[in-house]
Amino acid sequence: MADKLIVFDTTLRDGEQSPGASMTKEEKIRIARQLERLKVDVIEAGFAASSNGDFDAIKAIAGLIKDSTVCSLARANDRDIGRAAEALKDANSSRIHTFIATSPLHMEKKLRMTPEQVLEQAKLAVRFARQFTDNIEFSPEDGSRSDMDFLCRVLETVINEGATTINVTDTVGYGVPELYGQLIRTLRERVPNSDKAVWSVHCHNDLGMAVANSLAGVKIGGARQVECTINGLGERAGNTSLEEIVMAVKTRRDYFGLDLGIDTTQIVPASKLVSQITGFVVQPNKAVVGANAFAHASGIHQDGVLKARDTYEIMRAEDVGWSTNKIVLGKLSGRNAFKQRLQELGIALDSEGEVNSAFARFKELADQKAEIFDEDILAIVSNEAQTGSGEHFEFVSLSQHSETGERPHARVVFQAAGSEQTGEADGNGPVDATFNAIEGQVKSGAELVLYSVNAITTGTQSQGEVTVRLSKAGRIVNGVGTDPDIVAASAKAYLSALNKLYSKAEKLNPQLTP
Ligand code: KIV
Ligand code: ZN
Repeated sequence: MADKLIVFDTTLRDGEQSPGASMTKEEKIRIARQLERLKVDVIEAGFAASSNGDFDAIKAIAGLIKDSTVCSLARANDRDIGRAAEALKDANSSRIHTFIATSPLHMEKKLRMTPEQVLEQAKLAVRFARQFTDNIEFSPEDGSRSDMDFLCRVLETVINEGATTINVTDTVGYGVPELYGQLIRTLRERVPNSDKAVWSVHCHNDLGMAVANSLAGVKIGGARQVECTINGLGERAGNTSLEEIVMAVKTRRDYFGLDLGIDTTQIVPASKLVSQITGFVVQPNKAVVGANAFAHASGIHQDGVLKARDTYEIMRAEDVGWSTNKIVLGKLSGRNAFKQRLQELGIALDSEGEVNSAFARFKELADQKAEIFDEDILAIVSNEAQTGSGEHFEFVSLSQHSETGERPHARVVFQAAGSEQTGEADGNGPVDATFNAIEGQVKSGAELVLYSVNAITTGTQSQGEVTVRLSKAGRIVNGVGTDPDIVAASAKAYLSALNKLYSKAEKLNPQLTP
């Protein structure tokens, strides 16, 4: 029987440490529920001692989650560990994750402690945590830059005190796969009681190698737990991305020889939920969960894929939760259909009152928009929405009028092959009116398959960056437009996408060239 790889998700803790990604208790609960549907083994729900809000969120998650182990981070001191234990009290299965830095740099500059003091504190912390649970994880922070002999002493000590998982951190994303893999292997060989603990990898993506390092820790080092986040969310360049690890281990089972408990069909819903809640948009070419990850199914590789799926496809879109049925509800959909869709999306609203008010918001939106997608429903509940220039077509100017209770109207002036054109139209909203105004002149017949708008910087004066994806005859193009006025940015993005759609400069893919 193959070994199992434990998936430890830290979206709600390390992911949340990413500036701007902080979540409310309700948002954390929604994500935790989705993580449980995804069947992650361990959910690190937060850092109980960091705030009352985080404590409450961990406590609520511990009380609700039944199938995954719920974990709280705690620095290596009694107060933090006590708070973690208190927050986790109601959990079916819980874990305390305590840590202290072990690298010379961190010990001297950050902790201002000697190595002996750090060793003693690590020992006492695990001993204290042992009073509350026998499921204890210990992390030597900045582990990959720590002295090997010292690290071995610390890890042997904490295992003797009862630590059951040893998480070797690459806190600053400094590792390279082979060396990181060897680090884990050496530690496992040199720490005399290493067989009494599960070895875990925890990597950051500063050099873009978090996933590669984690996989090397598993393959070369023999680690059997991977710490990761949905969409690779996390500080700086992020953490190891759960979806990449899971699909690498599953797709290359021939190489890794490991089993996973994950329900991969829940990956994309989890990715969308995290993106929508945090406002961290997933890049289109992101492996597994990026909007382009399976675009060959309707793009240039279509012919090959239709003839034999595995010519260009190593994973199936449906296996990671990409659904083809995008329109889910409409104006006539009733409360039951709405409620059922909420459940299918893993959104469990606490009271009927909450369902009623979400349903009222759904009805308002359905009056503005004929087709309601899963993403709209997620935005309704999280009260957030997500968010693309050219040569042949060039944006000149835009005037647009919208007023509550009236259909918005837009007038767009643009250049088409050097001659000025003006389009005017109404629409469901200012952006719809703007696109209709352009389309009324250009008549491309393209289908708008994605529209997104992002604020480039913070604050209300920020420029909006709009991405528009158009599809026509199996060809999919992206256009990007930026402007402080997001409706003008939308017009630029639409014209940019049209330029690409009309461009003859499509490159031949050498793999498809006979
Ligand atoms: O990156 C890191 O070192 C951490 C520890 C706190 C586990 O996140
Ligand atoms: Zn980390």
